[in-house]
Amino acid sequence: MASLEVKDLAVRVEGKEILKGVSLKVSSGELHAIMGPNGSGKSTLAYTIAGKPGYEVVSGDILLNGESILDLDPDERALKGIFLGFQDPPPLPGVRLLSLVNAVYNKKKGLPVTGRGDPRLFKKVVQALELVSLSTEYANRELNVGFSGGEKKRMEVAQALIFEPEVIILDEPDSGLDAEGVRSIAKIIDGFRKEGRALLVITHYARLFSFVEPDVVTVLYKGRVAARGGAELARRIENEGFSFLRVN
Ligand SMILES: Nc1ncnc2c1ncn2[C@@H]1O[C@H](COP(=O)(O)OP(=O)(O)OP(=O)(O)O)[C@@H](O)[C@H]1O
Ligand SMILES: [Mg+2]
Repeated sequence: MASLEVKDLAVRVEGKEILKGVSLKVSSGELHAIMGPNGSGKSTLAYTIAGKPGYEVVSGDILLNGESILDLDPDERALKGIFLGFQDPPPLPGVRLLSLVNAVYNKKKGLPVTGRGDPRLFKKVVQALELVSLSTEYANRELNVGFSGGEKKRMEVAQALIFEPEVIILDEPDSGLDAEGVRSIAKIIDGFRKEGRALLVITHYARLFSFVEPDVVTVLYKGRVAARGGAELARRIENEGFSFLRVN
């Protein structure tokens, strides 16, 4: 059972305060959506939770299962069960999904990272790729090198399926996906929720939530929480934009 709590978080990037006191909580089996205009701080929040260097926490805290993770580096946070699917996944020349999965497995087991992994991992990788409609050859392609926009997003979700993290943060998993892709990603997100994972999903589009209803919707605006509600809030944003928000 996992819970992630962000408490009054202020974050500076390159000397500029981007988040100005953001609080939210997501627990096991919950889908918490984060919406908000471009530049409101959604990805900054995701990166800060994942521990990306350069995202300086000025005040506040991030708790995983009640314990602060601020002192942990990104690898340690990942090993503790926090996964971030990037908005814009970077190409990783020389890194292949299967070797990455083997390396993570070995690291978790305290084995030499470059050693052979468990043969069952291959099956798991193939199953995950199938669920996101990528063929088996993607297990051995250099990660995100020459991938289409939609293929990159599918690959992020495949990794969430393989690594079975307790806390899954997906930054715009539906951007650039075709109609069938949005439907299948929504189904996978619902599956994660049913398995008891805690989900933070950033999106601009309520269409994702026509397939999987969020439990909570938090709207960020200029680095602050400007509104919080249920799925109706996502639909309101779809219909009205952000003009109803009152934050300075
Ligand atoms: N390294 C940086 N240097 C300067 N400003 C930055 C840096 N990183 C982020 N910002 C600024 O922080 C603000 C929030 O960016 P962020 O990427 O979190 O927005 P977002 O809500 O994810 O937007 P989008 O919907 O476009 O993805 C933006 O104004 C952005 O320009
Ligand atoms: Mg973003």
